[in-house]
Amino acid sequence: MNTPSERIQLTSGDITNLAVDAIVNAANRSLLGGGGVDGAIHRTAGPELLAECRTLGGCETGQAKLTRGYCLPARFVIHTVGPIWQGGDRGEPELLAACYRNSLELAAEHGVRNIAFPAISCGVYRYPLPDAARIAVREVRRFLAGDAQIETVYLVCFDETVRQAYQQALAEE
Ligand code: APR
Repeated sequence: MNTPSERIQLTSGDITNLAVDAIVNAANRSLLGGGGVDGAIHRTAGPELLAECRTLGGCETGQAKLTRGYCLPARFVIHTVGPIWQGGDRGEPELLAACYRNSLELAAEHGVRNIAFPAISCGVYRYPLPDAARIAVREVRRFLAGDAQIETVYLVCFDETVRQAYQQALAEE
């Protein structure tokens, strides 16, 4: 089994194109769709995704819920709700860490072997990228150190600024 760091891969492009077991959606608490990656995932998955989301009763910040992927190449979508950045002293770091931890735990419960994350909270929710990237890398490393089932965690770099933030975070031990 590869080391945790060897099991983390950066990948560019649109998460809706990835044929992985699960892609993670940066959703909002209603789980009824939105803009950004949430909008892209719902557009590609089709209306059945929203229909299933309606049965879930929303999702608290930091939590994660799983649905099927429908028209997406991914088998599952794990919807997690990141914190809205409010300066950093409203528990945002702990809530963002919980998004990664809870999404990975849920994935492992469903036999997921490879999973892709967008940069949760780094768009509309305005979380500073460098801090968010460090939290993402730290939490994924910690989880993989204790898990032998998930083979690869893809961190999706939708643009160059995201890629640079992850590269910096990965370089820090
Ligand atoms: N594939 C991969 N990454 C993407 C895509 C995509 N198709 N579209 C956007 N991203 C990236 C953004 O560039 C950003 O780095 O996903 C990251 C998260 O940005 P947002 O999608 O804006 O998510 P977030 O900041 O968590 O805000 C969530 O936005 O869309 C609404 O309903 C959503 O209310 C919720 C809020």
